[in-house]
Amino acid sequence: MQKKIDALNAKLEAARLGGGEKRIEKQHAQKKLTARERVTYLLDPGSFEELGILVTHRTTDFGMADQQYYGDGVVTGYGTIGGRLVYVFAQDFTVFGGSLSETHAEKICKLMDLAVRAGAPVIGLNDSGGARIQEGVRSLGGYADIFYRNVQASGVVPQLSAIMGPCAGGAVYSPAMTDFIVMVEQTSYMFVTGPNVVKTVTNEEVSSEALGGASTHATKSGVAHRTAPNDIACLEDLKTLLSYLPQNNREKAPALPYETGPEWRDQLEGLVPDNPNQPYDMHQVIEGIIDADTFYEIHRDYAENIITGFARLGGKSLGIIANQPLALAGVLDSDSSRKAARFTRFCDSFNIPLLVLVDVPGFLPGTDQEWHGIIVHGAKLLYALSEATVPRITLITRKAYGGAYDVMNSKHIGADLNYAWPSAEIAVMGAKGASEIIFRKEIAAAEDPAQKLAEKEAEYAEAFANPYRAARRGFIDEVILPRETRRKLLRGFASLEHKTVEQPRRKHGNIPL
Ligand code: HXC
Repeated sequence: MQKKIDALNAKLEAARLGGGEKRIEKQHAQKKLTARERVTYLLDPGSFEELGILVTHRTTDFGMADQQYYGDGVVTGYGTIGGRLVYVFAQDFTVFGGSLSETHAEKICKLMDLAVRAGAPVIGLNDSGGARIQEGVRSLGGYADIFYRNVQASGVVPQLSAIMGPCAGGAVYSPAMTDFIVMVEQTSYMFVTGPNVVKTVTNEEVSSEALGGASTHATKSGVAHRTAPNDIACLEDLKTLLSYLPQNNREKAPALPYETGPEWRDQLEGLVPDNPNQPYDMHQVIEGIIDADTFYEIHRDYAENIITGFARLGGKSLGIIANQPLALAGVLDSDSSRKAARFTRFCDSFNIPLLVLVDVPGFLPGTDQEWHGIIVHGAKLLYALSEATVPRITLITRKAYGGAYDVMNSKHIGADLNYAWPSAEIAVMGAKGASEIIFRKEIAAAEDPAQKLAEKEAEYAEAFANPYRAARRGFIDEVILPRETRRKLLRGFASLEHKTVEQPRRKHGNIPL
């Protein structure tokens, strides 16, 4: 018996060494942790239960029969984070560059099936050169098996991805179908094809970092939701993200204990400047409303004219969408609409209530936006909010102009409670633009057209640049003072705690993708 135990221990030891000490050293020299170190750091101490440690690939082509590594380049299993069950896979770059073989894929699929059955999140730590080239179509099939499961699990359990090394081909498409992607700065890349192929096909010279580094995806493409300076920070970030999320779509996110106190927030007074063209930082409004230091921003550096992120209000998880007057005056454009739509759908899938803060002058005009489909992208946000059944509260801080008034969680598209500050202006457009159109003839005929325009502008502003017409019609439930906002929202969301919505029978809607 002892002999058999020794043989097993030798196998396990070999598995723990992955592709060997030299490759592990190389990984460390590049400031990357190994797959096992990452899993150990991510999970509660001693909680990891590994599955499939003795799996090996079945390929014999290209001399592969002689190159066997236990685990086949991916560490899979389950454990806990803060006491909550999660399923984890971590690709091991020391084994064939973390590339995905048929058996490697089978391990991930098994894990995802278990996670869905158990109703627990899946976390993928990706570090992979994509489909294992030596396996041909079997590795492509393996990826497709994973993609299929990504879709089946979507909206059922949260799926989080960390990109912790160079990821190519299938290794980027699976993360793209998960809910959130966090990339490690300088050591991780995501591209469908790397710089060499780009050079061959398009003759374009580009570095890995410029093509698909963390900064590129966090600012230009929006593929990455967050970035982290190193592996440890990335794993910490995943833990924080998870703390805002429920285990699955049948549960609510865990709430922290909270005792109601004096909920007045004087710092919210005076944040909105008197001059409607002067910007201010909507982050200050958010900070003034939520529990202290709980804002976890999604897509911070992408489409900055809209802010999205999780926070806590009275200890409970909340999704926030807010126009940002500091960037492009908070206008809605294609990217910001897509960003907010995707965030809305995540929150709605996982029972996270939504707070929408509005200061929006409208949609961004121009050929660039029109030719890139602002109509269909803007419609995504309109659609996503209209279909959301989670508790939804809106606060208009200043401008709510034109179609953007409708889109930004108006009463008409199903918001539950709609508040406005006295500084709110709810109109078809700003006073100047409106006056130039409707009083055009009168202004042209005037002795002093400029003065006439100013007069008409003031007249229009007096009539429409306020929240009271909307409040009189019931489109705004209450005009509230900034300092009482937090209290109103705490009570409002509490009143909606058990909100239920009956949905018509249908297979699924057809969001304008
Ligand atoms: C087999 C691979 C591999 C792969 C890397 N390796 N990628 N083995 N299949 N896909 C091996 C290398 O041969 C090498 O082995 C080791 O991993 C480390 O790779 P390096 O190239 O030395 O590392 P690095 O310089 O850091 O470059 C990493 C990389 C590069 C950018 C990922 O390896 C690369 O470009 N790989 C190929 C990417 C690719 O085209 N994949 C297929 C995508 S198609 P040794 O023994 O020398 O250490 C795909 C289709 C899916 O995925 C369908 C999607 C819809």
